[in-house]
Amino acid sequence: MKARSPIQGAYDQWSATYDTQINPTRDLDALALKSLLPDTAGKTIIEIGCGTGKNTLWLAPRCARLVALDFSTGMLRVASEKVRQPHVHFVQADIRSPFPLIKGLGDVVMINLVLEHIEKLTPVLEHAAAQMAPGAVLIISEYHPDRLITGRGARIERDGEEPIWVGSYRHPLAEFESAIESAGLKIEDRREWFEHQLPEPPPSGDTRPLLITYKSFQKAKG
Ligand SMILES: C[S@@+](CC[C@H](N)C(=O)[O-])C[C@H]1O[C@@H](n2cnc3c(N)ncnc32)[C@H](O)[C@@H]1O
Repeated sequence: MKARSPIQGAYDQWSATYDTQINPTRDLDALALKSLLPDTAGKTIIEIGCGTGKNTLWLAPRCARLVALDFSTGMLRVASEKVRQPHVHFVQADIRSPFPLIKGLGDVVMINLVLEHIEKLTPVLEHAAAQMAPGAVLIISEYHPDRLITGRGARIERDGEEPIWVGSYRHPLAEFESAIESAGLKIEDRREWFEHQLPEPPPSGDTRPLLITYKSFQKAKG
């Protein structure tokens, strides 16, 4: 693994409260995933940046095998306490380096709310694409650049104190799309997601998109 980054340390700290603090981005991502996930019965899912396992828990009963990766010891600890099933495997890996190829490859590879922490998108998406079985889909769900100011983004809220900013990079949509193409993938579905789609939208009334999602497939060869 690469040297421990401040982002890794921040997530170790955040792991204690990530599931319980108010977080419309996290909740909208859960909702988007439910709408985007294809039928995965009998299939293998690779979840990159599983965090505390909010999506892992929902995915586990819907697939034959689930490999969930993250670089934060704290986040992985919470996730592995939450999801204890023999077909679910947790792996500690920093996705900025090529991570171990998952045996059998993934029919669905997903990366939710992680890319804001990645400076160079293309290598990471190449590593993700290398994990895709023929015909597999890559699902990306990410903080929308219209809402992300570099250096803000994901933050740990603290009672009566300033939040801790985890460390985010703002990627314009064109940058996501060119990195997906460079990884040898073709975008088939692109959607923007808004706070008002949440069952209980936050009172801010912000009408800018909060998330961007992409579903991409390998380009046809030849
Ligand atoms: C905002 S959380 C999202 C977690 C989960 N996907 C969700 O939707 O709730 C971002 C996760 O990405 C992980 N992460 C960030 N950079 C990473 C890297 N370079 N390698 C592996 N995991 C990383 C963090 O440890 C954290 O658990």
